[in-house]
Amino acid sequence: MGERVLGLTDVLRSLTDNERAAGQTLSMVPSEAAMSGIAKLPLLLDAYHRYFFNEGGDPDRWHFRGGQDLSKLETDLAVPLLAELGQAEWVSLRPLSGLNTMTLVLASLGGPPGSDVMTLSPDVGGHYATERLATRLGLRVHQLGGPDPHGLDLDRAYEQVAAVRPPLVYVDQSHCLFPLDVRSLVETVRRASPATRVHVDTSQWLGLVLGGVFDNPLDCGADSYGGSTHKTFPGPQKGVFLTRDPQVAKQIEETQEYLISSHHFAATISLGIALLEFRQFGAEYARAVVDNTHRFGALLAERGITVIAQDRGFSAGHQLWLDTDADSIAPQVASDRLFQAGIRINFMAGLPGVTGQAVRIGLNEPTYRGLAEPELVELADVFVAGVRATERPENLAARVAQLPRRAWRRGPTDSESALARQALALCAASLAYPASE
Ligand SMILES: Cc1ncc(COP(=O)(O)O)c(C=O)c1O
Repeated sequence: MGERVLGLTDVLRSLTDNERAAGQTLSMVPSEAAMSGIAKLPLLLDAYHRYFFNEGGDPDRWHFRGGQDLSKLETDLAVPLLAELGQAEWVSLRPLSGLNTMTLVLASLGGPPGSDVMTLSPDVGGHYATERLATRLGLRVHQLGGPDPHGLDLDRAYEQVAAVRPPLVYVDQSHCLFPLDVRSLVETVRRASPATRVHVDTSQWLGLVLGGVFDNPLDCGADSYGGSTHKTFPGPQKGVFLTRDPQVAKQIEETQEYLISSHHFAATISLGIALLEFRQFGAEYARAVVDNTHRFGALLAERGITVIAQDRGFSAGHQLWLDTDADSIAPQVASDRLFQAGIRINFMAGLPGVTGQAVRIGLNEPTYRGLAEPELVELADVFVAGVRATERPENLAARVAQLPRRAWRRGPTDSESALARQALALCAASLAYPASE
C-alpha cells in the first residue's frame, strides 16, 4: 500500500513499448499464438462492448440488440466455417478459453455430482487443472496412465473403464510431444462401456487437426472435441466445441445457457476472420509446424542441446522439451538468457517423464511468423548461443529482430485495406470519447 499507482501515460508508454518489442522478438511459447492484424480488428471496435445471444434470429429474442447488425458474422461466418474445417455437424463458439470449454464439457457430459469421470494422469500429459476442476463439480476422478509418458496402457484402461463405466472419458492431453492413439482408445472404451462418451480436448492440437495433419477425433470415433483457439490455431483467446451427435449437442446447448453469458462477441468475430484466413493456408501451415518442429529438434541436438525424446524423433507436434539441466544450465537460467536475446520460452516442472524442471518450446508461432528452413538454422544458432551465453545478448537480440516476417495469408486487397483503415479511423476518433464540444 502507499506505492505509486501508474498513470495513463505510463500505461500507454508500456503498451507502445511492448508493441514495438513484440515486432522485434520471437515467442516460442507453445500455448500462445499470434494472429493477423485484420483478425484483431473487431477487438478494438464497438462489437467488443456487445452481447449476442440470438443465434436463431428469433424476433422475440432480441432482448439485447447491440450485436444485431453484426449477427451474421457469427451465424454466417464463424459457425459454418468452424463446422466445415472441423468436419462437425454442430459447434459451439461460446466458451471463452480451453479451461472454460473443459468446464462446460465436464458439467454437460460428466453426469450429476457423484458420477465417475476418467481423465489422463499428468504422468501422460493430463492437464494440471482437470482433476481439481472435475472434483469441484462433484465428479469422482479416475486417471488413465501409460507404459511411458507418451502413450496409454489400453489393457489397463479397459479394466478401469469396465469397472466404473463412467459417463465420460475426458482426454486432456496438455504436455504432449506425440498425439495419443484416439481411435484405439475409443475402441477400448466402447468395448468396456458402450454408453460412455469420449471427448478429446484438442486445445494444444486444434490448428493441426483443422489443418488436417492430425486425425480429426470425430473420424476416430470420439463423441466430441474442442478447446482453446490460440495455441496451434492462430486465433483469438477463445474456446470451441464440436460434435456430430445431436444428443451431445443438446446437452452442451442446455448447459452453456447458464454457464456462459458473455461469450466475448468481438473475439468470436475475430475467430471467424481467423478461420477464413486459415481456410486458405491452414493445411500448408499445419504441415510446416510439424516439419519445423521436428527440424528444430534435430538442429538443437546437432548443436549439443539435450532434446527429450530424441530416440522417438523429438516430437510429432509443435512442442519440444529440452533438458538443459543435463547440459549444466538450469531451465530458468536458460529462459532468462533467451529473454535477453529476444526469445520467449517456458521453463516448468511437471513435464511427463522429466524429473525437475525443463525448457518447453513451440514452433507454432515462429512458423506462423513465416520462419522456414534458412531461418530455422539461424534461430538454432542464436538459441544455442543464448542458452550457453557464448555471445552478447544484445547481438543475439539484433539477429532475432532480423528474422524475416512473412505472412501466410494473402495480404488484404486494396479495397479490404481501405475498409480496415476506415474502421481504424473510427476507432481512433473514439480515443477522444467522450467527445469534447
Ligand atoms: C489440454 C488443455 N486443456 C485446457 C487448457 C487450458 O486452456 P486455456 O488456457 O485456453 O484456458 C490447456 C492449456 O494449456 C490444455 O493444454
